[in-house]
Amino acid sequence: MEVNRKKRYYLKMKEVGLNWRITRIGNLKKERVKLKYVVSNTYDQMSLKAAKYVADAIKAKPGIVLGLPTGGTPIGMYKELVRMHKEEGLDFSQVKTFNLDEYLGLAGDHNQSYRYFMKSNLFSQVNIQERNINFLSGIASDPIAECKRYEEAIVAAGGIDLMILGIGVNGHIGFNEPAKELKANSHLIDLAQSTIDANARFFDNKEEVPTRAITMGVGSILRCKEIILLASGKSKEDAIDGTTNGVVTTDLPASLLQLHSDVTLFLDDEAAAKVDR
Ligand code: PGA
Repeated sequence: MEVNRKKRYYLKMKEVGLNWRITRIGNLKKERVKLKYVVSNTYDQMSLKAAKYVADAIKAKPGIVLGLPTGGTPIGMYKELVRMHKEEGLDFSQVKTFNLDEYLGLAGDHNQSYRYFMKSNLFSQVNIQERNINFLSGIASDPIAECKRYEEAIVAAGGIDLMILGIGVNGHIGFNEPAKELKANSHLIDLAQSTIDANARFFDNKEEVPTRAITMGVGSILRCKEIILLASGKSKEDAIDGTTNGVVTTDLPASLLQLHSDVTLFLDDEAAAKVDR
C-alpha cells in the first residue's frame, strides 16, 4: 500500500514535469514527502482535535508565531481555544499571529472584514496583545508596499511556526486561487467566481462580496515551519482528494502542500471520503 502510493506519487510528479531534482529544491527528503492525517467522525470532533493541537503548540512555545485562517471551518476550533483560555488558562499573552488574507477595500472595522472576524471569534476573547496581531490591510494606499511590509514582518518575527489553513472548494489556500501560475509572496488577487459565490453566504447580497483580496502567497505558506489544514463536509472532498492524491498542480493550490515536510490534515469523514490513507 505504502510502496504503491509512493510509486504513484513519483510517477505523477514526472507526469506534471516535476522531477526529483525540483522537489529537492525544497530540501525535501523522499521519505518525508508524506502528509499526516487526523480524521474525525464529525465537524465538532475535528474542531476539538485541531484546537488541542494548537493549544499544545502554544504550551510548548508560549511565544509561538501562528498563521491564522478565517472562514466557516475554523470557527469551532476558535471556540474551543476560547473555552480553553477561559476555563483552563490557555495563555495567549506572548502569542504572535499573522492572518492569511484580507478582502481588498474593507477596513478592519467592517463587519465582513477578516480582521473583524478574528476579533469576534478569537482576539477579543483571549489575552492576546494587540501589538502581536498582524494583518494585511485591505485599505492600504499602496497594496504592493503593504505586501512587502507583511513579508518583512513575518521574517522579523522569526517566521511562522505553525500555519493553520482552511481550503476552498476549488483547492485555494489563503486566497491563492487556481491559476496557470501562482505567486510566491503576499500579493493582490482577483477572487475566483466559485470563491465569490461561496463567500456570498456571509453578505446581505451578492453585489457586496468583494472581488479582490490581498493574501499571503504559496511561498509565504510553504516557508512556515509546520502546517495544519482543516476541512469538513462533502463540498471539500474533491479539494482534499486533489490535495493528497500525489499530483502537484497550480490548478489546485493546496496540492503544493505535498512539497512541505510537516503537514497534518484535520478532516471529518466526509472531507476525507476520497483520501487514500
Ligand atoms: P470555509 O472557507 O471554511 O468557509 O469553507 C475556507 C476557505 O475558503 O479557505
